Amino acid sequence: MMSKVVPNQLKSLSVPLIKEKKNKNEKIVMVTAYDYPSANIGDESGVDIILVGDSLGMVIQGNEDTLSVTLSEIIYHTKMVSKAVRRALVVADMPFLSYHTGVKEAIKNCGMCIKEGRAQAVKLEGGRKRADLIKRIVDSEIPVMGHIGLTPQSIHKLGGFKVQGKDKSSADRLIEDAVALEKADVFSIVLECIPAEVSEIITKEVKVPTIGIGSGPYCDGQVLVFHDLLGISDDPLPRFVKKYKNLRKEITEGISSFANEVKKGTFPKDENCYHIVDTLNKESAK
Ligand code: KIV
Repeated sequence: MMSKVVPNQLKSLSVPLIKEKKNKNEKIVMVTAYDYPSANIGDESGVDIILVGDSLGMVIQGNEDTLSVTLSEIIYHTKMVSKAVRRALVVADMPFLSYHTGVKEAIKNCGMCIKEGRAQAVKLEGGRKRADLIKRIVDSEIPVMGHIGLTPQSIHKLGGFKVQGKDKSSADRLIEDAVALEKADVFSIVLECIPAEVSEIITKEVKVPTIGIGSGPYCDGQVLVFHDLLGISDDPLPRFVKKYKNLRKEITEGISSFANEVKKGTFPKDENCYHIVDTLNKESAK
């Protein structure tokens, strides 16, 4: 069957092209986005992957962790993001409990992010213990991005948001996790809060690209949360975040200026108003 090529559906960066970037030594850039305008801006800025992260639970919903995010919320946000993106690959982040209760349910839930959300791939947290499940999901034609190290959905087990793999045995487990994910056919692996030396070993060990956050410079790519890198939130940020802009300041100044002008009566000015046309004016004056 010939495929109908609708530009908005055929994003230019596919899963195989992302994988190829590792062989070509091209760094991969990923940012999160949760809505149409941020996804559109991210895409136009030339990023390779837009992740509809479950970090939306913290960044958008104001929760202290990601655990309450639901599948329908991820699908809702993914729909907005995928409508806005023309070039980047859109990845939906599978929320806590959407892939933990059985293979069938996991495949169905991941599939819904593709079918309804229009993402091109999903991301799942966990290494060796999720490898068999991930293989089944990939075999259902759903590309999977892995995620190891500090996996925020496991914070209660990990005892908080802590750097992982700092000693030899836990570093060895992380390397095994990455190898297991590669065997399960993931197309890339997020390494979160892992010592730079360990992510360097993992990046050399596996053929699929690694995308780091708080994991040093040797990864094949880097990811940051949209609101963190643009300085939108006022929460203290971890040391691995670089604030490239202080949008919070800019936005606050913009809204304060609007408020001051409204209070002083200097907004709106004539140029911001509509007027009735002369003839109508005369007619209505009769
Ligand atoms: O949810 C998220 O934003 C993430 C990234 C930090 C990798 O998982």
